Amino acid sequence: MRRIIIAIDGYAATGKSTTARGVAEQLEYLHIDSGAMYRAAAWYLWQQGIREVDPEALPKQMEGFALDLEREGKEMIVYLGGKRLETELRRPEIGAFASEVSTVPWLRERLIAEQRRLGAEGGVVMDGRDIGTVVFPHAELKVFMQADLEARVERRYRELLSRGEATSREAIRAELTERDYRDVTRSVSPLRKAPDARILDTTFLTIPQQITQVVQWAHDLIYAPSLS
Ligand code: DC
Repeated sequence: MRRIIIAIDGYAATGKSTTARGVAEQLEYLHIDSGAMYRAAAWYLWQQGIREVDPEALPKQMEGFALDLEREGKEMIVYLGGKRLETELRRPEIGAFASEVSTVPWLRERLIAEQRRLGAEGGVVMDGRDIGTVVFPHAELKVFMQADLEARVERRYRELLSRGEATSREAIRAELTERDYRDVTRSVSPLRKAPDARILDTTFLTIPQQITQVVQWAHDLIYAPSLS
């Protein structure tokens, strides 16, 4: 049976990674969260005390950046300098900084090459901002996720609360709005829907419903006569 590439793009806090993980589990595919790679780059700079992106200085600042992605079951775990990174990468300030860092073409080229290598053999669900448009423009299934801002604020708020992080809805709303703006307006690989992507609006959907919808689309393609 053909193992396809599933590209999931969309706005921050629409549930991309959770959906991608669930779809990968059901199809027994590998899940790759490309955002975690940009967050790891942001984390690496942040650790050096860098808070502003300087595209000229970036290659030098990133010299020792050795991203190590280890496969654990169906997940890719990010290691940096032998340290397993998880909750560090989910911090809101790292997400915001990743959005800034990701505007630098030099860094994008490196990470995109790595993403293509990881997905080359198919059987992957990769989520991000430019997977269906740039990384895998020939992906068999492309999904573009969106949801109303207030639904996304509420989800992110609960997620952070459950991790015991102090936050407010106002701060999250401001952060998401700014991040959307930057992701959509940047000149290199801006977030946009690929013409052949299917829209998945998650405003009124639960996570299991989101996963079921994408798995259904995938099955339609995998079992379509022309692909078998
Ligand atoms: O999906 P995320 O919130 O983990 O992504 C963090 C930032 O990384 C996002 O604001 C923009 C950037 N990013 C990107 O430019 N391209 C991707 N494929 C994934 C993430």
